[in-house]
This record gives sequence, C-alpha cells and structure tokens, in this order.
Amino acid sequence: MASGELIRLRFLLLLSTAIVAGATDHIVGGHLGWNPNINYTLWSNNQTFYVHDLISFRYQKNMYNVFEVNKTGYDNCTMDGLAGNWSSGKDFIPLNQSKTYYFICGNGLCFSGMKVAVRVLRLPASAAPPTASNSSSKSSSRAASASPAPRPWPAALVALAAVFAVAWIGIGSAGI
Ligand SMILES: *[C@@H]1O[C@H](CO)[C@@H](O)[C@H](O)[C@H]1NC(C)=O
Ligand SMILES: *[C@@H]1O[C@H](CO)[C@@H](O)[C@H](O)[C@H]1NC(C)=O
Ligand SMILES: *[C@@H]1O[C@H](CO)[C@@H](O)[C@H](O)[C@H]1NC(C)=O
Ligand SMILES: *[C@@H]1O[C@H](CO)[C@@H](O)[C@H](O)[C@H]1NC(C)=O
Ligand SMILES: *[C@@H]1O[C@H](CO)[C@@H](O)[C@H](O)[C@H]1NC(C)=O
Ligand SMILES: *[C@@H]1O[C@H](CO)[C@@H](O)[C@H](O)[C@H]1NC(C)=O
Ligand SMILES: *[C@@H]1O[C@H](CO)[C@@H](O)[C@H](O)[C@H]1NC(C)=O
Repeated sequence: MASGELIRLRFLLLLSTAIVAGATDHIVGGHLGWNPNINYTLWSNNQTFYVHDLISFRYQKNMYNVFEVNKTGYDNCTMDGLAGNWSSGKDFIPLNQSKTYYFICGNGLCFSGMKVAVRVLRLPASAAPPTASNSSSKSSSRAASASPAPRPWPAALVALAAVFAVAWIGIGSAGI
C-alpha cells in the first residue's frame, strides 16, 4: 500500500508540474509550418503571446532556417540587428521578454513571406480580482473583453483539484 501511494503521489507531482509549468508553444503557421508564401502576419495576429511562451518553427532542414533580427531587418529582409539563428528544422525559441520579436528566413526566402513578428505581452496580473463597486453589466462586460485572453490557470486548477480529489478517494478506499 505504501509503495502504491508513493507511486500515485509521484505521478501527481509530475502531472501538476506539467500543468503549472505549461507555457504555450506557438507553432509558427500551425499545420502549414514555416514555408514560403504564407502570410504570417495573419497567423501572428491570431495568437496571444505571453512572456515565457515558446515559439517553434517546423520546416525542412537545409532548405529553410530562422534568424532573429530587429525591425529594420524584418522590414527589409536583412540581417540588421541579428540576435540569433536556428536551423535544426524544429526550433523551440523561448520568448523571454515582453517585446516584439522579429524572425526571418535567410536564403532570400524572407522576400517570399518567410518573416514573422510577434508581440509578446507581460503575463496578466495573477487572478485579477473582480472590480468591486461599479458592477453595471455594461462596464463589467467591457472590462472582461478588454482584458487579455485568459491564461489556462482556471482550467488547470480545476483539473488539478479533480486529480487530487480522485487520488484522495483512491487513497482513502485503499486504506479501507
Ligand atoms: C498579410 O495580411 C495582413 C493583414 O491582413 C496584410 O496587412 C498584409 O499586407 C498581408 N501581407 C502580405 C504579404 O500579403
Ligand atoms: C485563427 O484562429 C481560429 C481559432 O483557433 C482558427 O479557426 C483560424 O483558422 C485561425 N486563422 C488563422 C488565419 O490562423
Ligand atoms: C529598412 O526599413 C526601414 C523601415 O523599417 C526604413 O526606414 C529603412 O530605410 C530601411 N533600410 C534599408 C537599408 O532599406
Ligand atoms: C537594427 O540593427 C541595425 C544594426 O545594428 C541598426 O542600424 C538599426 O538601427 C536597428 N534597427 C532598429 C529598429 O533598432
Ligand atoms: C549562429 O549562431 C551561433 C551561435 O548560436 C553563432 O556562433 C554563429 O556565428 C551564428 N551564425 C550566423 C550566420 O549568424
Ligand atoms: C531565455 O531564457 C533562457 C533561460 O533563462 C535562456 O537559456 C535562453 O538563452 C533565453 N533565450 C533567449 C532567446 O534570450
Ligand atoms: C464608479 O463609478 C463612479 C461614477 O459612476 C465613478 O466616479 C467611480 O470612480 C467608479 N469607481 C470605480 C472603482 O470604477
């Protein structure tokens, strides 16, 4: 019994770590990946990037690559402000700072649309308390829509609570 509980607790610890640590991985282009003739502005505008999220580029190695440049480099498809380069074909890049990152492909393919700018936002203040007094439906709904997209915290916490509840019941019944 003791070892069973230990295993269960270890599993729980792993699971909760995975859930809590879960930064979003933004796969550039989604299923289209990192390829020419895709408008990555449309892709980027459709995502919300937060500090500590990842951006990942998936592409055919030896054909394409990834360079981080500055805005001048992005606008002109040059290596201006070069800050990094990746070429593994499956590159995970941590978005560590709240700023706009600019990535382009070398080999002239930047001119074929292989460029992407992502604006990384600071993490929203943890669990913003509901505005106390002025809770007319109009102002509260506007506040809700103006705030950045919610992080997966509530869902993660609910899942975590459910897991603990199940484990608790399991341990309890094992004890009986
Ligand atoms: C990509 O889409 C954006 C937003 O609609 C647009 O402003 C931009 O001109 C497009 N870029 C290209 C290269 O078509
Ligand atoms: C934007 O996101 C929605 C919902 O995830 C998705 O259905 C749509 O295809 C996306 N559009 C683009 C251009 O990626
Ligand atoms: C690069 O683009 C910027 C706009 O972001 C422009 O002001 C600048 O003149 C361009 N530089 C070159 C060398 O083309
Ligand atoms: C980008 O870097 C180049 C070279 O270091 C520099 O001349 C340029 O001013 C930078 N552009 C921006 C927008 O910071
Ligand atoms: C690519 O990055 C590595 C370090 O990660 C650096 O040594 C190398 O010079 C860079 N290459 C180019 C072309 O910038
Ligand atoms: C992001 O932070 C990690 C850990 O602090 C560091 O290893 C990595 O080099 C940083 N990446 C960039 C692109 O600054
Ligand atoms: C609540 O609304 C009143 C006016 O209706 C305004 O003076 C006050 O600053 C508001 N308070 C908050 C916390 O928004």
